[in-house]
Amino acid sequence: MQYLSSPSESVDLRVMVVSTPSVAEAAEVVAPVDAVVAERLPALVAESKQRQFVWHFPERGLLIQNEYGDRDDPHRHAELMRKAGAAVWDRLAELPIQSVEVRSIGEGVDLYAWLEGFRLRSYRFDKYRSQKQRPTLGTVHVPQLDAEALDEMDWVVKANFLARDLSNEPYITLNTAALAQRACDVGREVGIDVEIWDKQRIEEEGFGGLLGVNKGSEYPPAFVIMRYEPQHALNEQPFVLVGKGVVFDTGGLSLKPTKNSMDQMKHDMGGAAAVIGAMYYVAGRKLPIKVTALLPITDNRPGHDALTPCDIIRMHDGTTVEVLNTDAEGRLILADALAYAKHLSPMLTIDLATLTGAAMRAVGPHGTVMIRNKGAEPYVDDMVRSGFETYERIVELPNWPEYREMLKSDIADLKNIGGPNAGAITAGQFLEHFTDYPWIHLDIAGPAFGGKADSYRGGPGASGVGVRLLARFFQRWISHQS
Ligand code: BES
Ligand code: ZN
Ligand code: ZN
Repeated sequence: MQYLSSPSESVDLRVMVVSTPSVAEAAEVVAPVDAVVAERLPALVAESKQRQFVWHFPERGLLIQNEYGDRDDPHRHAELMRKAGAAVWDRLAELPIQSVEVRSIGEGVDLYAWLEGFRLRSYRFDKYRSQKQRPTLGTVHVPQLDAEALDEMDWVVKANFLARDLSNEPYITLNTAALAQRACDVGREVGIDVEIWDKQRIEEEGFGGLLGVNKGSEYPPAFVIMRYEPQHALNEQPFVLVGKGVVFDTGGLSLKPTKNSMDQMKHDMGGAAAVIGAMYYVAGRKLPIKVTALLPITDNRPGHDALTPCDIIRMHDGTTVEVLNTDAEGRLILADALAYAKHLSPMLTIDLATLTGAAMRAVGPHGTVMIRNKGAEPYVDDMVRSGFETYERIVELPNWPEYREMLKSDIADLKNIGGPNAGAITAGQFLEHFTDYPWIHLDIAGPAFGGKADSYRGGPGASGVGVRLLARFFQRWISHQS
């Protein structure tokens, strides 16, 4: 599919996105383009009672959508526009057409957001389907958006799809080695240095968390470092991104208990997927920033030598951890990566992880839980705003010292579970122990994947959450530098 900013005389279908609260007005803004259709609009709308409508006039090669949006809330407005675009994608995907031209008519259409929703909705994970239902649409002309805006959107969409592809891939085809290899391939494509540590190197570095979680596995762990260092970078010290790469989480010996709790655990590397997607975007768009990604990768299984409740392990920085539940494995592998990040003197480290069911229960699919340390203060506003702008929204939970009591172990420096309450907070605080730099933790357990379709976010399956957020965050940071 290609998206062009050139107009076209001869497309199979013209799409008009109209944004007006009243049907009479909608008819009026359509009138200069197609008077016949404009006349019919009020009658058609009267028939349906819906406010948002999509009318298709096959004989005139025209499809009109009216989405008023939410003029009181700019972020929700953009979101409604994305959803409107996604709805039109669904219509067009069924039609036997090759080319369309999209225009907005009248005031108030956020065409960029609309097209983003349209494009993000086009995602399919059908590589394992024998019968592929591929739309015939090949070219979309959007003359009201310039080539630069479309290029930006290209990379954001490709990066989001990459993250979804990685996350949707089952364990049988995306085990530890395969995910590390994918990071390598992505790096080669866009010019990022990628280093993969094997088990021996991981042992030499004393990554007791990653090695511990990996103990029950048939396959060795991997630690991937992706370095993007353009000339003329605006930052001296790099941004560091850390992604949880648990390619399958069975819970280990603390085997996941309830009926369906393991069904979707191929997505437990959604944090790593988002980080790889974000790196792909940053390098693909050649952003003038140094970014390093750290990906601890393993599966979490109850093999013969599996990590055992009561075990005490020693992490990269020497911290000892009493493991009381092997299903709290994400924090163990992230701890090593975060401790390692200290050697990189990061300006800011952001970790993304499908870390806790507690985060999912707290905000459901609509929000990412943030915990952060004091040093991250200068970056929080940009991060939260980026969340609203992309609608990958962020909720900050308190990082109050009192909660830290819950992580105290009787016989080691820390234990890996905090107790029945405030699970997303104590998980975050466990991670914080391994940081000495500005740090933001994003628990994406809620929005990373879902069991049913959710407009342009896709599904059932992965959403690629985190990619658009980070893309916007970096853009924001860059825009403050001049
Ligand atoms: N990968 C899970 C968290 C998760 C659960 C993500 C559901 C997405 C959906 C994580 O490794 C885990 O099992 N966490 C435990 C921690 C607990 C044992 C302290 C949890 O949240 O139940
Ligand atoms: Zn787990
Ligand atoms: Zn997990």
